[in-house]
Amino acid sequence: MIKKCLFPVAGYGTRFLPATKSMPKEMLPIVNKPLVQYGVEEAMEAGLTNIAFVTGRGKRAIEDHFDVSYELEHQISGTGKEQYLEGIRAIIETCCFSYTRQTEMKGLGHAILMGENLIGDEAFAVVLADDLCISSGEGVLSQMVKLYKQFRCSIVAIEEVPLQETEKYGVVAGELVREDLFRVETMVEKPKPEEAPSNYAVMGRYILTPDIFRILRNTPPGRNGEVQITDALMTQAREGCVMAYKFKGKRFDCGSVEGFIEATNHCYQHFYK
Ligand code: G1P
Repeated sequence: MIKKCLFPVAGYGTRFLPATKSMPKEMLPIVNKPLVQYGVEEAMEAGLTNIAFVTGRGKRAIEDHFDVSYELEHQISGTGKEQYLEGIRAIIETCCFSYTRQTEMKGLGHAILMGENLIGDEAFAVVLADDLCISSGEGVLSQMVKLYKQFRCSIVAIEEVPLQETEKYGVVAGELVREDLFRVETMVEKPKPEEAPSNYAVMGRYILTPDIFRILRNTPPGRNGEVQITDALMTQAREGCVMAYKFKGKRFDCGSVEGFIEATNHCYQHFYK
């Protein structure tokens, strides 16, 4: 059973400056809820209630968000405004939170390795909060946890992207074992379109088996001089098995201004009451 979900949230969010000068990008609201809360809700829906954050300097607002705010709660207690805190209160009551810091920015693979202390020797999920995943039925992580129970190996979420966009993503190719599932044979971080093995891009949802930590420790810096989870997963695919899953749902790239606005409009239309 997977219980833990890791959120690497140490990144700077430079594309949203000056908004992110003193505020974590993960706290930017999509309508009235911070981006990171959508990710935690998705984890909770999948039964992952042990939430681990790899944070960095200037990210304290995330810790405060997932904690009670006595003054505020006292102030609005008994008024109609209490309802606004119901969602976050349910999260705080259901989940437990732990934090560790990544003191140097050495890439996503390095950030995940920093989470080893909080995860230990068990399979876990990773959510990149920038990738907001919305599905009409079961959440994306929940779909992936089900698959893990069947295959017992690492799983990455994938989506087809236009070929000219492969340079933004980890790109996979492999053997189709089911209409929506590949067994990974190749994985490349941010390839140029002409070098991409396919147009299936990894979106920010992973299930990882704990041997990934040993592999990450031995993975040299790759693309952009950073330790890449994509390279570690390629090693894992070679040693054993990694699956790539075409999830059901829609993903918004909230790391870009355009995707952020698209997500905002979508959530305003569909969820805001
Ligand atoms: C990271 C990963 C990449 C993945 C992407 C998903 O890249 O390195 O493989 O496709 O997230 O959003 P980043 O967006 O942090 O550059």
